[in-house]
Amino acid sequence: MKRPARWHIPRFAWDYLVGGIGLDENVRRNTEDLQKIQFMPRYLSAAPEPDIRTTLFGETLSAPFGVAPVGLGGLMVPGCEIEIAKAARAGNIVHVLSTHATTSLETIKPHAGPNGWFQLYPPNDPEMEADMIGRAKRAGYQVLVVTVDIPGPTRRDHDIRNGLSVPPDFGVRTVTDAALRPTWLLRLARHGVPHFENIEPYAPKDLSLAEFGEFLGRIFSGHITAERFKRIRDQWHGKIVVKGVLDPDEAAAYLALGADGIVVSNHGGRQLDAAPSAIAMLPKVRERVGREALVMVDGGVRSGLDIARMIALGADYILLGRPFIFASAAIGTAGPSHLIDVLKAELRGTMMQMGCGTLADLPGFLHAQNR
Ligand SMILES: Cc1cc2nc3c(=O)[nH]c(=O)nc-3n(C[C@H](O)[C@H](O)[C@H](O)COP(=O)(O)O)c2cc1C
Repeated sequence: MKRPARWHIPRFAWDYLVGGIGLDENVRRNTEDLQKIQFMPRYLSAAPEPDIRTTLFGETLSAPFGVAPVGLGGLMVPGCEIEIAKAARAGNIVHVLSTHATTSLETIKPHAGPNGWFQLYPPNDPEMEADMIGRAKRAGYQVLVVTVDIPGPTRRDHDIRNGLSVPPDFGVRTVTDAALRPTWLLRLARHGVPHFENIEPYAPKDLSLAEFGEFLGRIFSGHITAERFKRIRDQWHGKIVVKGVLDPDEAAAYLALGADGIVVSNHGGRQLDAAPSAIAMLPKVRERVGREALVMVDGGVRSGLDIARMIALGADYILLGRPFIFASAAIGTAGPSHLIDVLKAELRGTMMQMGCGTLADLPGFLHAQNR
């Protein structure tokens, strides 16, 4: 789906989507390390039909994977955010909406239904933070995903070169670029120019694009220290999952501060090129926090087999980011549901091939060199 998607997304948005930071080493490491994980299939005894259902916070879900929060969905594929939320609900998997989405959290929630979670980049203005948390509560979200791995503005070379901005700055380059992507233009005409719908209410009026960028950089900066995390914990009575942790001790620390789960993640390789892959840290985090803690993971997952690999190394639940945008761009409205169906079929097929009936049994099928 990635290959055809390329023809439906303008260059400035494509680079933003697929790119990592620096030389993209961390992006590559995520997939390369995953592909090193091998399984040992067994054929002698009959295995039960694979069961891929799982339970999270008391809810039964049809599969152990869901949609990671991806900002600016409407810039890459105008109108895709509602379509992805609907597909997640229909497929009964978790959907996490980004703070930086181009569709508001209030608009998305009815489409995502009980499957909808909200991802919060904590603003460093306590009033804005309280207001965003209040909005998420009133909209009916039960799970807040607090992302901690963007302590300051991120410098990505391709976005700087492309002069990326939201809404797009329709200069000569952007217009020529977009003119080569008629499906994108048609969707833009149908769905309107994308905006940061969740955040715009807090920005001073009439800012230029550059000033709005500065506002974002200023408001979403700083580390999510114990003090800041506790302030969020005190205001949110539902579940909190902390996203963007790689260090096992830090995962344990956030859990001790009241987090209900962790997402082991390097933000899809977009923050620190020298960071370890998510799959490399996953077993270490699992070992440190124990069997009972909820450990989720994302980064480089591209197939049902990759989902099996993550589960075998200790994950309870897996998120995928870029693939949902690829599916929307390549196939259109039906893309996200198609992707969910393919991933479910691949996961079942992988388990069937190995002779594994349940997700809990997957670690027992790891090749000895990966144990
Ligand atoms: C274009 C793009 C935008 C993203 N925006 C956000 C975001 O707004 N909030 C967040 O917590 N993570 C964000 N992420 C990170 C994803 O949630 C996830 O960690 C990452 O995409 C997983 O890697 P994958 O794309 O290889 O599946 C973004 C990732 C991409 C590719």
